[in-house]
Amino acid sequence: MINIGSKKIGMPGWRNENFLSDETLKNIYGEHAIQHFNQNNPSLFVFSNSKPFDLIELEQLLQAVGWGRRPLRRVKRALDNSLLKVGLWQHDSKFPRLIGFARCTGDGVIDATIWDVAINPVYQGYGLGKLLMTYLMKSLKRKGISRVTLFADSDVITFYRKQGWNLEPNGKKCAFWYSN
Ligand SMILES: CC(C)(COP(=O)(O)OP(=O)(O)OC[C@H]1O[C@@H](n2cnc3c(N)ncnc32)[C@H](O)[C@@H]1OP(=O)(O)O)[C@@H](O)C(=O)NCCC(=O)NCCS
Repeated sequence: MINIGSKKIGMPGWRNENFLSDETLKNIYGEHAIQHFNQNNPSLFVFSNSKPFDLIELEQLLQAVGWGRRPLRRVKRALDNSLLKVGLWQHDSKFPRLIGFARCTGDGVIDATIWDVAINPVYQGYGLGKLLMTYLMKSLKRKGISRVTLFADSDVITFYRKQGWNLEPNGKKCAFWYSN
């Protein structure tokens, strides 16, 4: 398990001046943002659950991972109605770039369901997806929510299994209904 409890996650050798001050971090990315340096990339990455999204940039990210285009009006409503949205930004003081995203729906008290987990393909394989999930789960825990579900595509089941998710046994407990 990755500890994402501290605000600064770096690698040996990074000095404090590489990180944003608490004040700058909060001003750009909001409360509870966490910054992270990755061994494989010289950029500073920031996880946030309160920085607003540019809808076009978000849709571009989701299309980059291969998902279909959705009307922005509906996306905006879906985001407004979501319990939690988390973004992962490649830091730039003027133009932070959205490179990761996930959101949750739920009742805000007991249950939450995770949707739309995505990392820009250029940044996949560096551990950022795992950190995004850890950050998201911490954010849910802060709301007092401990029962969390998600629907994984078959080709990413291992990604979740490695993080300790229990797989629903034998496909017996799920029901899906798609209205076309
Ligand atoms: C799934 C996704 C979010 C993973 O992000 P990522 O940053 O590449 O993942 P990480 O680098 O943090 O991987 C963490 C671990 O999971 C493994 N893993 C990642 N993606 C995997 C996959 N598709 N299948 C199997 N294992 C995977 C990694 O090998 C790594 O293993 P390790 O801890 O033993 O080294 C990313 O590949 C993605 O956006 N995919 C397209 C969208 C998608 O399918 N989302 C999930 C919807 S259910």
